Amino acid sequence: MGAVRSTLAPLAGETAVDLTAGMGGHAIELGRAIGDSGTLVLCDLDPANLARARANVLASGFSGQVVESAGSYARVPQRLIEQGLRADCVLGDLGFSSTQVDDASRGFSFRRDGPLDMRYDPASGASAADLIASRAEEELADLIYTFGEERRSRGIARKLVVEREREPITTTGRLAEIVRSVVPRTPGSRIDPATRTFQALRIAVNDELGHLRLLLETVERAAGATNGRGSWLAPGARIAIISFHSLEDRLVKRSFAELGKRDIAKVLTRSPLTAEEDEAQSNPRARSAKLRAIRLAPPT
Ligand SMILES: C[S@@+](CC[C@H](N)C(=O)[O-])C[C@H]1O[C@@H](n2cnc3c(N)ncnc32)[C@H](O)[C@@H]1O
Repeated sequence: MGAVRSTLAPLAGETAVDLTAGMGGHAIELGRAIGDSGTLVLCDLDPANLARARANVLASGFSGQVVESAGSYARVPQRLIEQGLRADCVLGDLGFSSTQVDDASRGFSFRRDGPLDMRYDPASGASAADLIASRAEEELADLIYTFGEERRSRGIARKLVVEREREPITTTGRLAEIVRSVVPRTPGSRIDPATRTFQALRIAVNDELGHLRLLLETVERAAGATNGRGSWLAPGARIAIISFHSLEDRLVKRSFAELGKRDIAKVLTRSPLTAEEDEAQSNPRARSAKLRAIRLAPPT
């Protein structure tokens, strides 16, 4: 939280955009800083989380303007332009929220049996069960290897194909058992052998890297033209992205470094900021979080 506030440095009256509002924790912090004269834009691909974020922000006492943008954050730039808004600070806190992983009916967790879904937006796109049913063995192996960094991806894909021929794989419990039958538990490790395969499927189902690439492209385009009309980013805008996976972090790092090299933005984080010890203790997921931030060139 502290790192988000210090890098974005939101000021009273500004327009702050939370691209991944989740339960509204960060949005509430941003709202406190921009105050009653500020505009808070909330986006989430998961309609239930967007409603939660809005309710929590309002319950926090924020009485500035709240603008909602349902759907992918990659669409936010266009929506801001349509509404004549320009962002002064933008936050993306990527990946999933605890509300999603703790709810068995959403199908994200190997710890809770439920339908094998994993879509952030339960109303659109193909589920993890559809993906496993429809992809060729080699494609499954490649995505489990790339997005999960799972060395036994070929063996897992082989077993998935054998098992899906016996009976469609439609529950998280069955998928976890299949993966565990191929990947042995590392002695002394508390990490479930199914962890990497579940991560890989979640990233693929939600095209997480595709959405991030689109967002970074719009940041790059707008950064080159902040003083021009029609940009969704105000001159001097700050942008912070928290990622949890090396592939995401690499995309953010390259994009921000390129903007820095072209002198149209200043990189505010030479090395990524990571969770403080107390936060990493209380929230194990925070241990892999990396925050990178830039500030666009100020008004001329
Ligand atoms: C780590 S949580 C955000 C938590 C939030 N910062 C908070 O304080 O509660 C990530 C959120 O991003 C959302 N999300 C994932 N991919 C998205 C996308 N492409 N567009 C918009 N939201 C997305 C998820 O639905 C989830 O609610």
